Amino acid sequence: MKRILTGIQPSGQLHWGNYFGAIQPMLEAQAGGNEMFFFIADLHAFTTVRDPEVFKKNQRDIVLDYIALGLDPRKSLFWRQSDVPAHSELAWFLMCLAPLGMLERAHSFKDKKAKGLETNSGLFTYPMLMAADILLYDAIGVPVGKDQKQHVEMARDIAQKFNHQFGEIFTLPEPQISKKLQTIPGLDGQKMSKSYGNTIPIFDDEKSLRKKIMSIKTDAISLGDPIDPKTCTVFQFHKLFENPEIAALEKKYKSGAIGFGDSKKQLFELVWEHFAPARERREILAKNLDEVEKIMQDGADRAASIANKKLKQVKKAIGISA
Ligand code: ADP
Ligand code: TRP
Repeated sequence: MKRILTGIQPSGQLHWGNYFGAIQPMLEAQAGGNEMFFFIADLHAFTTVRDPEVFKKNQRDIVLDYIALGLDPRKSLFWRQSDVPAHSELAWFLMCLAPLGMLERAHSFKDKKAKGLETNSGLFTYPMLMAADILLYDAIGVPVGKDQKQHVEMARDIAQKFNHQFGEIFTLPEPQISKKLQTIPGLDGQKMSKSYGNTIPIFDDEKSLRKKIMSIKTDAISLGDPIDPKTCTVFQFHKLFENPEIAALEKKYKSGAIGFGDSKKQLFELVWEHFAPARERREILAKNLDEVEKIMQDGADRAASIANKKLKQVKKAIGISA
């Protein structure tokens, strides 16, 4: 059994790209009996979020979303980063060991700076907080998107440096980038991403979801003409959401028996049905926020008992009384 750990920033409504790219693989790993450690990276989010109300709402939403979608707090460890102060504390020790040059090479920081976005010291030292998140729990597998691979490599580098200097305290983590994972396209056919404003949220209301699906960009093909399913984003979604009639639909595409409009209407039905159980669970959870908070506190207690032990070892090794 492998200990797998990953974090997700609470940064707004989850979309289909997150679902297929991050949530489904995590649920599969959970079902496969792996030891899943999963936390809400709220301290990381504070590098960019500035509105306290939005911040609060995003955090509450992400907890509801994940539990509703199938994350099982009895099987997986699920907590909020800020509830376990050991994350920030270890991050400090790692920052003191991290050469500036290492952090200056971080692509994500360089990209943000190059785009003229607001930068701050938290954003600069972000990889060391992320390293702390991982190293506190002796995680081996860290599933992340391609953009985060370098951060996991930095966690490994700093762990090696620490171990070399102070003794074998940390387990060396590995980034896990799923090769079979595809990039989910957005409304405009580009990668679906909040930053491109082309997302379709998982928990959209009926009217808005219908409208979004109807606005998925398609080629200019006259009604009655054949459509190549391979180049059609709508068809790709039928496949991803496992339309049971996919073979028949493919035939209709190729013979010109279906147009984009009808294919989109069918896609709406398919997706609405697909997320119905999660939507119902989410509504119930939203009415029982005290229960949800208990789940999170329990997760934080369990996470803290592991993290605090590791932090104690670290302090002892560097010569700070623990
Ligand atoms: P966004 O690009 O909307 O800001 P995030 O960077 O917060 O999304 O992504 C969170 C997780 O979802 C990451 O693991 C990322 O790899 C995955 N993900 C996001 N968008 C897509 C996509 N279009 N295709 C596949 N995976 C995605
Ligand atoms: N930086 C990751 C992201 O933006 C989130 C994250 C924070 C994370 N800490 C982590 C991911 C530790 C994996 C392991 O997507």
